[in-house]
Amino acid sequence: MTAEPAAGEDEAAVKPRRQSLEIEILTLFPAMLQAPLAESIPGRVQARGLATIRVHDMRHWGLGRHKSVDDYTYGGGAGMVLRPEPVAAALDELRRPDSTVILMDPGGEVFGQARGHDLAARPHLILLCPRYEGVDERIRALADVELSIGDYVLSGGEIPALVIVDTVLRLLPGAIDAESTAEESFTAGLLEYPQYTRPPVFRDMAVPAVLTSGHHEAVRKWRLKESLRRTWRRRPDLLEDRPMSREEAKLLAEVSHEETVAAADAAEVDAAQAAEQAEVERR
Ligand SMILES: C[S@@+](CC[C@H](N)C(=O)[O-])C[C@H]1O[C@@H](n2cnc3c(N)ncnc32)[C@H](O)[C@@H]1O
Repeated sequence: MTAEPAAGEDEAAVKPRRQSLEIEILTLFPAMLQAPLAESIPGRVQARGLATIRVHDMRHWGLGRHKSVDDYTYGGGAGMVLRPEPVAAALDELRRPDSTVILMDPGGEVFGQARGHDLAARPHLILLCPRYEGVDERIRALADVELSIGDYVLSGGEIPALVIVDTVLRLLPGAIDAESTAEESFTAGLLEYPQYTRPPVFRDMAVPAVLTSGHHEAVRKWRLKESLRRTWRRRPDLLEDRPMSREEAKLLAEVSHEETVAAADAAEVDAAQAAEQAEVERR
């Protein structure tokens, strides 16, 4: 872990500007979380005092001599479920009036950047990471929100918790260069524009000339247009209810026209090739 500012970072820019975010993570496998949270941006954010993360072993609140936390499901069925008492005991100890308790669950609200911003503005997060077949239904009543990271089932809540915590940490003021988060995918409701580095030409693919022109306004406009193009091609759903500035609407109309012409041209080439192939086969 290092508290040193990254190359090019202003020392003042990395000073905490708000109350530090506190995060508690409740898990049966603390080691799964410790290394990823100690590296890179999560590690730096904590070293700078922007956030404090405490990982707790749920067995600490386990029942009986064996510190048991799970049991068979009433009515029969495969697997074990997390019992409510250890979770309730942990929350009795950790919960504060300003806490937000988050249950990792594949049936929860699908986590996205907007929820990430929301959580980054809160003072105290408690993330519950169940394992096994999930949780006793009554545990849901102890949570403020249930979050899923997507429509698939993982073995436990640790990886979802890491996804959420990583997203939230990089959104904290001072965590990374503010320009980076402002321009990233989803922040402005669009996917990010294409980016290039050296070499200028790689396997016949050249960096777009505008990016080396030194013309800042032209670069800004190109990036906005390519951001709209990528979103239009890959995630048109993001454009559906998104309010547009006049400039964005104009650029999007250009993109739509260019893409329609390109699709028609491609279809024409395909048809010509198919006709040529048919002619070869006829002979
Ligand atoms: C094997 S899963 C249990 C799945 C549960 N039987 C079901 O069908 O919904 C164990 C735990 O992993 C976590 N988990 C798995 N997939 C997840 C996802 N996509 N998002 C968030 N948490 C997930 C949840 O905490 C879940 O309780």
